Amino acid sequence: MNDAKSTHNVFLVGPMGAGKSTIGRRLSLMLQRPFWDSDPFIEEQHGLTIPEIFIAEGEAGFRALEKAAIAELTGYPGIVLATGGGAVLDADNRRCLRERGWVVYLSASVAVQLARTRRDTHRPLLQTADPQARLEALLAQRDPLYRDVADVIIQTDGRTVRHIVRLILQRLPYECLNSLRNSPKDRP
Ligand code: S3P
Repeated sequence: MNDAKSTHNVFLVGPMGAGKSTIGRRLSLMLQRPFWDSDPFIEEQHGLTIPEIFIAEGEAGFRALEKAAIAELTGYPGIVLATGGGAVLDADNRRCLRERGWVVYLSASVAVQLARTRRDTHRPLLQTADPQARLEALLAQRDPLYRDVADVIIQTDGRTVRHIVRLILQRLPYECLNSLRNSPKDRP
């Protein structure tokens, strides 16, 4: 773990269905820090849903918007940020995440991801005949990238949101949990 980071940001990475948004929201309440979620941020900025962006601009168009969102949101001070599952694909995104916050990788097995996203119609990459094969391929490609940026790795299978948040709080370093008031560097 890189103890030299002087930031109070917490960034959540991990695959679809790992619980990044739910856990991020709960963690932000516990830490009393603002919560941001990159997908709703992109949707609000562009007035289109994620599926509409994929239709209009393709995945490459979405990734460009996601990159701009990650660059902006990781620059905010003292936040909890849930990122989209593919945010780690881009090297600049990985650098922003690594350098500007404490990164928590919420990992989940494909079986659990599949169960949690079963009825989902909002994730274009899962609108396929074989979502299990898609999730397996995505995890094989991305797991090394999540690990590459992570300061903390939490396995979420079979754990409640409450338990996961407690584990995160136990594993984040003191420099991150320390009150914002003690860190003028973190102010805008
Ligand atoms: C994606 C994950 C989604 C969203 C988009 C692409 C991915 O976010 O960004 O559908 O590439 O894994 P969640 O991880 O929040 O579902």
